[in-house]
Amino acid sequence: MIVRYTGEVLALKDMNKKVVKHKANDKARNLIQNERVVLSLLGEKPAFCCLNLRYAFETSASYALAFQFCCGGDLDYRLNSYRKKMRNEGVSKLKGLPEKEVQFYAAEMAVALNHLHGLGIIHRDMKPLNILLTKEGHCVLSDFGLATRVKKGKEEKKGRIGTPGFL
Ligand SMILES: Nc1ncnc2c1ncn2[C@@H]1O[C@H](COP(=O)(O)OP(=O)(O)O)[C@@H](O)[C@H]1O
Ligand SMILES: [Mg+2]
Repeated sequence: MIVRYTGEVLALKDMNKKVVKHKANDKARNLIQNERVVLSLLGEKPAFCCLNLRYAFETSASYALAFQFCCGGDLDYRLNSYRKKMRNEGVSKLKGLPEKEVQFYAAEMAVALNHLHGLGIIHRDMKPLNILLTKEGHCVLSDFGLATRVKKGKEEKKGRIGTPGFL
């Protein structure tokens, strides 16, 4: 996490160059570049429902992306803390969050996907860990590492991609 002189708190996604090199090959580097390209495309038409990239830079040790900070954490964290709270209150057969809350998040994610698809971007890694909660209680879609672009009139993308377990 970094704090600008303005006092604004940002989240920093820092990718160690050594780890990237060790992992690989051009594939890992391409993933980082890919995320950067998709984010800059998104930055041209910012939307409240997609995570906003503020800065991108590299140092001798790492590649870094700085984002708006979402202090509510991710949806996975929200789910787990809700389950824990309900268990402490003696509710044992709990499956998920309250229906109204789920409806709200689903509606905001529909807006996010609609925005992305309008720009020709497919996210391909939607899961609770990649949905972040802002201090106002809104959710934003994040992590564009696996996102891809589809150009109008071009061949459609086929195949399976995403996080194992969510496919
Ligand atoms: N802007 C942010 N504000 C708050 N937490 C964040 C932010 N970006 C990422 N995180 C946290 O870091 C985790 C990993 O970030 P992510 O961009 O999804 O990286 P990875 O490519 O490793 O999955 C997220 O699941 C979330 O918990
Ligand atoms: Mg992620």
